[in-house]
Amino acid sequence: MNAKINPPGYVSPVGQPLDRVDGYLKVTGQARYAGEYPKAGLLHGSVVSSSVASGRVLRIDASQALQVKGVVAVIDHTNRPQIASYDKDYEDADSAEGSPFRPLYNDRVLYSGQPLALVVADTLELARHAGSLVRIEYETDAHQTDLTAVQGTAHTAPAETPQPRGDFKGAFASAAFKVDAHYSTPNEHHNPMEPHASTVFYKDDGSLQIHEKTQGTQNCQSYVQKVFGLDKEKVQVLAAYVGGAFGSGLRPQYQLPLAVMAALKLQRSVRVTLTRQQMFTFGYRPHTLQHLRLGADEKGRLVAVGHEVIGQTSRFEDFTEHVVEWSGMLYQCDNVQLSYKLAPLDVYTPLDMRAPGAASGMVGLESALDELACATGIDPVQLRLINFAERNGNEDKPYSRKELRACYEQGAERFGWSQRNPEPRSMRRGRQLVGWGMAGGVWEAMQNPASAKARIDSEGKITVSSATTDIGTGTYTVMTQIAAEAAGAPVEDVTFLLGDSSLPTAPLQGGSFTVSSVGTAVQQACRALRAKLLDALRMAHPEFAVVDMEQVGFGDGSLHIEDQTFRYADIVRMSSHDMLEVQVDAKPDEKRDGYATATHSAMFVEVLVDEDLGTVRVNRVVNAVAAGRVVNPKTARSQVLGGVVWGISQALHEHSQTDHGLGRVMNHNLSEYHVPVNPDIGEIDVVFVEEHDNIVNDLGSKGVGEIGIVGMAAAIANAVYHATGKRVRDFPITLDKVL
Ligand code: MOS
Repeated sequence: MNAKINPPGYVSPVGQPLDRVDGYLKVTGQARYAGEYPKAGLLHGSVVSSSVASGRVLRIDASQALQVKGVVAVIDHTNRPQIASYDKDYEDADSAEGSPFRPLYNDRVLYSGQPLALVVADTLELARHAGSLVRIEYETDAHQTDLTAVQGTAHTAPAETPQPRGDFKGAFASAAFKVDAHYSTPNEHHNPMEPHASTVFYKDDGSLQIHEKTQGTQNCQSYVQKVFGLDKEKVQVLAAYVGGAFGSGLRPQYQLPLAVMAALKLQRSVRVTLTRQQMFTFGYRPHTLQHLRLGADEKGRLVAVGHEVIGQTSRFEDFTEHVVEWSGMLYQCDNVQLSYKLAPLDVYTPLDMRAPGAASGMVGLESALDELACATGIDPVQLRLINFAERNGNEDKPYSRKELRACYEQGAERFGWSQRNPEPRSMRRGRQLVGWGMAGGVWEAMQNPASAKARIDSEGKITVSSATTDIGTGTYTVMTQIAAEAAGAPVEDVTFLLGDSSLPTAPLQGGSFTVSSVGTAVQQACRALRAKLLDALRMAHPEFAVVDMEQVGFGDGSLHIEDQTFRYADIVRMSSHDMLEVQVDAKPDEKRDGYATATHSAMFVEVLVDEDLGTVRVNRVVNAVAAGRVVNPKTARSQVLGGVVWGISQALHEHSQTDHGLGRVMNHNLSEYHVPVNPDIGEIDVVFVEEHDNIVNDLGSKGVGEIGIVGMAAAIANAVYHATGKRVRDFPITLDKVL
């Protein structure tokens, strides 16, 4: 038997810039989001929020609200249905350490904006109006929401930080060049275009079908089941389309239990949507205070790296993220000291936000590296090459693959970095000072267990499913491509289903691990399906009994054995079944064990700073990314573009500003919470450098959801310094700080 022959002209769908398979439904408005599912008789809930930051509710007077015609109920802690009291029942797949927030549990007020009542009415407008008539009397306690005021109270975060190595103190003291600087990053809120919403369909048998804005349908299912003591089969959570989440949908948010409470109490279908203002009343990227100390020898080699961070958290949970770890791994250094502490405040618990920890911590590290470049007189790219780490020093493991040198090289080349005059204020264009800055980026390449099911019918149509979500990242599309390649079928024959808690188990969509986790399950399921097709063929054609997959060509929805072709549809018909189906549970391969796995990047930025006004425009960005095999260059580029834009936003705009007197975020809307708009964004060039990683997973793919933002804010700050000679260490870089 000859070796396999793939059909002539076969090109794998993986690596193709396929348009989003869900694009048509989205641009034509047919894709429904959680708050858009219609139903006759659906009730609408509006949340009444606390106006104080700490204390107790003495009385909630809903009498006026209840007089409004069309108002069905006002639910608060005194009349809610039975809910769990035990902390564990409120924990979810992304919980922080501590006691999770329990909506409408008792009279305690833990933060300003806390939901205290839900008004349920026939229409949203009535519910909101009636909500304005609810009177709440409080007994207020003193509150503290200002991290800078309580630094001394910080305790060590429960998350493990890498152990110190070498002798940081001694090495730093005797270093030829030193940087000793403090940086800060502010609170930031996710602000996805789609605000959080839950539509709970109450069925006659008491079961709930919930359309939810979430990054994890099964996470929400198990939360609802535990909090309300329901049978798992009675709760189905769906998220067919999600209008951006960025981490805000990792944990079940309070509109979900509130909507379920109302549905159970009233035995009616209920929808609760949050207002844009209320999008500022739960998780966010936390304010950090960072102290960086870098020491280098005469040749610019790092001899000491110290990174100490204090981040804010709530009084009820210790939110932790990886802020300082990157400083122990991105560069080669033998004397490293990292510390990460938390200070509790009267605020809601922070939450993962795109590249949680790295997006903040790398601001400090990559700004400090630039300061070291200035101190040593070494070009910033050169300095990074001098300190290139072949191994991850935190884990003392080699990288499965790390094409960061190629990122520096190709990024610099595309940008024209060699033309840079290192002298600050040396480049200008009319009134504009021109600054060129760069930074490096790093993010973990994680993988989690995931399951997938693949089925083929007698028309040859393949349906692959897993309970993951597509938060705008392109999951529908890339899974279709992975499935098509592994099954050996054209993408037109493949449909991928997701966003349903009843589908095979999938992890939360986050951490840039969906392609590696769910993609691996999809790949394995579709390979198994192809093997099953061959089995079925061998049953029907005993002359092929000894043929194995190595000898079979595929790719066009057929098996090719020597000069014979068998269409999948025909094979299914040959079998005694009307369809063939397989389900697999995939987990990270053991071959990863000896290695550190990460994505890397290098970004180059040109800013124009108006000398008189201090305004900063990011005119040009090149971001070169090494993330293994790129499944879809179009959706992957969109991911990095989004990350870069958010990096610009982080550097120059975003800041959830708290009035510490009131303990409340004041700019809780999209006019005062600044994000860039189209004219703020210049040219963005995304480069994917070649990286062949056969250790990370069988796809060789690492995920690109987060790497695009990491390092961007520092690269911009470094460019601003190069333009102006002014080092801004307190983010965001607003014009008052530049002038
Ligand atoms: Mo991401 S912050 O893991 O959604």
